Amino acid sequence: MSRIFNFASGPAVLPLPVLEKARDEMLDFAGSGMSIMEMSHRGKIFDAIIKAAEDNFRRLMGISADYAVLFLPGGASQQFAMIPLNLLPPGRSADFVDTGAWAGKAIKEAGIVGKTNVIWSGRAGNYMSAPAPSELDFDPAAAYAYICSNETIGGVRFAEFPEPPSPLVADMSSDIMSRVIEVGRFGLIFAGAQKNLGPSGLAAVIIRRDLAERVPATTNLFFRYRTHMPEPSLFNTPNTWAIYIFKLVTDWVAENGGVSAMQKRNEEKAGRLYQVLDASPFWRPCADRASRSIMNVAWRLADPGLEDKFVKEAKAAGMDGLRGHRSVGGLRASLYNAFPPEGVTALIDFMREFERRNG
Ligand SMILES: Cc1ncc(COP(=O)(O)O)c(C=O)c1O
Repeated sequence: MSRIFNFASGPAVLPLPVLEKARDEMLDFAGSGMSIMEMSHRGKIFDAIIKAAEDNFRRLMGISADYAVLFLPGGASQQFAMIPLNLLPPGRSADFVDTGAWAGKAIKEAGIVGKTNVIWSGRAGNYMSAPAPSELDFDPAAAYAYICSNETIGGVRFAEFPEPPSPLVADMSSDIMSRVIEVGRFGLIFAGAQKNLGPSGLAAVIIRRDLAERVPATTNLFFRYRTHMPEPSLFNTPNTWAIYIFKLVTDWVAENGGVSAMQKRNEEKAGRLYQVLDASPFWRPCADRASRSIMNVAWRLADPGLEDKFVKEAKAAGMDGLRGHRSVGGLRASLYNAFPPEGVTALIDFMREFERRNG
């Protein structure tokens, strides 16, 4: 077996012990003679798994009983629609901070439901920064305020979160559990699972319970958060496999010191890579310094003609997923929780050698 260093932005690398455990438990889960995927979502075994997944998540992120934790299908994109369908009633507007492609998609979906008020946009600066709280002027009458905490494509993050007068809604798909946050400052947090939590197609949603009551009567049952409460929700047959892997991933995070330990490790990994990018004009890191993501590091080469060569040679050296998103080009290394520090060392060594040969 040979595992590569996987820098993909999502679906992304999972912790090796998680994959090994899933493999070992695949054919006969805990003496049941079945795999998790083959058994009832209403049985005792799966009930214990979904409850453990929720408990792990609550403990790791410090989520109080005032919040519901929901495991919903449709990944993060379904949340772009569900949020306005629940929280944006007729005649109201919501504030948005436009930090890039993912915030843009959420703005577009909300615009189908109601009025969107873009209070800040990074478009003129090619989405290379996120605003400081002091740059934002929120509407006190807004139904909610929306941000994307980490823009996966641009490699830009909120270093500090704003405190709007209305409930703060955040897409944390690409940085959930990568740094310590205070859940109590948010009305709703959601994340597609495929970066820091597990397989794709699953969204983890943390919603302040009172907000779920605001849903207009015109919203279909499935798309109401309230329908999926109280937890664990079995309104539909959930993605049992994805929730099982989520449980294993959160076990792994807990065994490895929790979110603060992840944050320390992530800051070290990204810090070492940014140091190399800053050290020579051969490399051109994209994001403004104050907004640099510790999950997705995006950069260009001074000679963009060399980028293709870089990707190909890196792949031959056992490092995949380094091509930037197709909408922006360039290079990107995604360094999620499960990405090992040795992979950053390998990349840095490769970069130094590449620069020596091509600089
Ligand atoms: C920040 C962010 N939000 C939303 C999404 C969309 O997620 P999904 O494909 O699960 O709908 C992505 C996907 O990469 C993302 O990076």
